[in-house]
This record gives sequence, C-alpha cells and structure tokens, in this order.
Amino acid sequence: MIPDQLSVSFSGDGLPNSTKIIAEQINQLKDLDKIEPDIYSVGGIVEQLETKFSAILNKEKSIFLPTGTMANHFAIRELSGQNSKTIVQEQSHIYQDSGDTLQTLSGISLIPLGLNKPYFNIGELEEIIFKNSISRVPKNIGCISIESPVRRQKGQIIPIENIKILYDFAKSYNIKLHLDAARLYMMSSATKIPIHEYTQYFDTVYCSLWKYFGAPWGAILSGPNKLVENMFNTRRMFGGSIPNSSLNAALILNNLDGFESKMNNAYDQGIDLIKKLNNSEKFNIIINENHSNVFEFQYNDANEYNVFRNKLINNNIFLPDLNSENYGIINSKNFVDIRINISLLNKSNEDIFKVFVESV
Ligand SMILES: Cc1ncc(COP(=O)(O)O)c(C=O)c1O
Repeated sequence: MIPDQLSVSFSGDGLPNSTKIIAEQINQLKDLDKIEPDIYSVGGIVEQLETKFSAILNKEKSIFLPTGTMANHFAIRELSGQNSKTIVQEQSHIYQDSGDTLQTLSGISLIPLGLNKPYFNIGELEEIIFKNSISRVPKNIGCISIESPVRRQKGQIIPIENIKILYDFAKSYNIKLHLDAARLYMMSSATKIPIHEYTQYFDTVYCSLWKYFGAPWGAILSGPNKLVENMFNTRRMFGGSIPNSSLNAALILNNLDGFESKMNNAYDQGIDLIKKLNNSEKFNIIINENHSNVFEFQYNDANEYNVFRNKLINNNIFLPDLNSENYGIINSKNFVDIRINISLLNKSNEDIFKVFVESV
C-alpha cells in the first residue's frame, strides 16, 4: 500500500505525491482554458507565479526555474561575479549534492566551512577571508551562500541572531548573501518568524516549488531587478527554458493557496503529537536544537519497527520505510527521521495517538 492525499505520512515536506496524484490534481484544476500560456517559461501564468513570489519573498523580481540546483547556481553565479570564490556550508546541498555545478560550469570555486556542522561561526569566516586576502593569486570572495534549514543536518535552522550577525559582517566586507531556503515554509512554521523577516537579510532567495506544492518540478529565485530581469537568457543558455510551463505553474499556484497557514497548523499539531507520544513513555522522539520539521524516531529493531509500521499503514498512517534512499543523510543507529507536513491535518491528534499506542 502506498500513501495517498488522505494519508498521514511522516515522510517528505508536503502531501504524498506520485504520477497518479499529479495527474488527478491537474484534472481537478478549474478553468484550464483560462490559463494564460507562457512561451518558453516567459509570460502568462508563469509571470503571475513569479510576481506572487516576489511579494511573498519581498524582492523586486523572481524567475521560475526547473530546479533548485539551477536556482542556487544562478544566484551564486550572479552575486559572486567573475574571478571569484563563494563561501558555503560544508554540509550544504550546493556543496555536497550538486556535482560541483558552480566549479564546473561557471568557474566559481566554493570554499566549504563548518565541517559536519549546520553552520560556521564568524571567527571561521574571518580567518578564511584573511587567508584569501594574502593568497598568491588574488580572487575576490563575492558571495556567501547559506542553506537553512540544513537538509543534511536533520533540518536544523540557522538561528536568526546568527543571520543578523552574518548580514552585518557581509555588509562590512561588501560580500553578497544568498539564501537556499528550499524549505522556507518549514523553517518559518517552526520558528514563527515571518518569511519577510528572513528574506530581508539576503540579496537573493531560492524556495523549492515541488517539494510541498504538489508539482513535479520547479523552483523560484527572487532578488534585485537588475540581477534577475535578464536571467531568462542564462536559463536558456543552461538549457532550462522549458517550452511550456503553464500547467506546472497553475498546479503550484493552486496548492500555494492557504499553504502557509496549513503548514503552521500542521506544525503545531505535530509538535503536540510528538510531546503526547513521548509523554506516553511508549515512544522516544528526539526534538533537536534549532529543529524545523525533522525529528528522530527511535525503534528497537528493524523487524519490530516494520510490524509496527504495517499496523499503522492499515490505518492509513505511514512512517518512513527503513530501506528508502537517504541521499547522504546519516541516521544514528536505531533512529529514523520523521517529518511534520500538512498530511497531519488529515487526522486529529487523538486518532493518530490512539493508533500509535494501540499498534506498539
Ligand atoms: C536544501 C536544498 N537545496 C537545493 C536543492 C535542490 O533542489 P532540486 O532538487 O530542485 O534541484 C535541494 C533538493 O533536494 C535541497 O534539499
């Protein structure tokens, strides 16, 4: 059995998704004939989507891109400039999971800081900038890219205080800042810090559009007009100008409606559920420092977990499959990551709690 849109699923950042679900959702879109078409991802409903995100992220201009990998690449490429280097977290997606895209395709070196940590401190930053300044062959440090929540670090969030310090520091060195906020909504629902408050500290911001808006692909990159307005040419150069993006944009806009408050409610419900489960003393779910929507669920052994998991599935509740691909995320022994997402709203906490306690 696989999860559907009515399941409660503790995997992923949005509702369960599949080819069938996407097809059904497209079928349910209203007024398909009124969707204004784009041409190679320019204009029409795509422009509506971009304008909407410029308002959400409080930036002058936005561009719809096929993937977050491309969004991070373009932002850093533009902000950093030629003959430059960019500082990134060692644990970031752009450093670990993007196949050296910036180094290979744009000739920009990435300097990784904060080995195995979610973040680095200002001392480390100062040291690396000093070393760079006395290097034999001068290169500018044009940009610092920050990922938050940090995917490889159990979704930990960079505290806003650190972001403010980084902002002042970068300003004093005339270094630009990019935010990889693929999971921006998960961060804001956890900290209750509004999206605008985060985005004001960064020149450019990327947010994923496929991870939780039910779409098969998509990313938004927002920033200053002068940086983003001609980026459609860069997108074409990199082969990312999808000829017809309208249906995808319509799907995203449809699911974006009300998402922020749904995610907030789901988050509060999820925390309440985790506390109740821990208080029952039948479960141990770790709430890490600076957590977003990722928590560590302890189990005794894989067989017992699978029996328990199957009982939950009979009630349309899905815990993660221990055999699923983790894409570089390392779990502690006998722990599996569970995630709060809007699928929790499909059942009351009383119902979910009852099924957990009766199935263990
Ligand atoms: C933090 C983060 N940044 C960027 C990306 C890249 O997004 P995409 O898969 O759309 O290229 C991901 C995707 O997993 C991610 O988790």
